Amino acid sequence: MKTVLITGASRGIGRAIGQLLWQQGYTVIGTSRQPTQAETTPFELYPLDVSSDESVERCVGMVLSKYSRVDVLINNAGIALYGAVEEATVEDVRRVMETNLLGVVRMTNALLPHMRAARQGQIINMSSLAGLVGVPYLGIYAASKHALEGYTTTLRYEVKHLGIHVTLIEPGDIGTDIERKQASRNYQEYKRGSESAVAIHEAHLQNGPPPEKVAAVAAEVIRSRRPHLRYTVTSGDEFWVPWMRRLLPDWVNERLIRSHFRLE
Ligand SMILES: NC(=O)c1ccc[n+]([C@@H]2O[C@H](COP(=O)([O-])OP(=O)(O)OC[C@H]3O[C@@H](n4cnc5c(N)ncnc54)[C@H](OP(=O)(O)O)[C@@H]3O)[C@@H](O)[C@H]2O)c1
Repeated sequence: MKTVLITGASRGIGRAIGQLLWQQGYTVIGTSRQPTQAETTPFELYPLDVSSDESVERCVGMVLSKYSRVDVLINNAGIALYGAVEEATVEDVRRVMETNLLGVVRMTNALLPHMRAARQGQIINMSSLAGLVGVPYLGIYAASKHALEGYTTTLRYEVKHLGIHVTLIEPGDIGTDIERKQASRNYQEYKRGSESAVAIHEAHLQNGPPPEKVAAVAAEVIRSRRPHLRYTVTSGDEFWVPWMRRLLPDWVNERLIRSHFRLE
């Protein structure tokens, strides 16, 4: 059975994926920034902060010395940031990018040499529907996931001939307690739009499907002999988001998104 390393497996989507794969007989290695506080997983949690070079090096070193190989890397760890893009300071943006983009780059760079040497492997990056369309008042998060999409689609071209499969999972709103901070600045001009958009996001998260829905898709991707580039995980009207983006002109998409978030 394959050995799977999942970043951010202490709760939410990462934990649900780990639990399902563990039940299915995979060797699951999870990670958390503070593993002692997260004892509810049936699999082992290694300490890892993907925003730190040293932490990634230490974690991957420990994992490879114990397991000698990792067949599947699931780059799941991620955080969100609410607020207008102008309200986010460079430090706010850096924090999100350090985890959502550079965290993926660090982990991928650390494990690719082993996958290249083995001439096999699989990398699954947890994107979002926010990687496909701009999302008002969640713009920095959307920017990090758009960057992840560009990185991942390119990586797929470059490592396919080495036997390494690369895939994006793009969930809509899922019922987790994802870490979501507020941007550091607060401007009156954005107050109304921000309050309305954030209330809509929060309601969607609360009513979103459980993380097990994403876990089932991740398990399908791992089982697949030829995994696709993208797997979306949607509920209700979210189903149309990837299609809207592909098929409709920008001005129609903009109108639909404005109306969805009740923007002026
Ligand atoms: N929930 C949604 O609606 C939704 C929708 C689309 C995409 N996603 C994506 O799915 C992924 C998981 O989100 P979730 O909703 O399951 O969130 P979550 O419940 O907050 O879980 C996030 C996980 O990431 C870990 N983490 C956060 N920062 C980290 C860092 N710097 N280094 C290492 N681990 C870190 C956390 O572990 P510790 O705190 O224990 O370190 C936690 O286990 C994210 O990439 C998110 O963008 C979520």
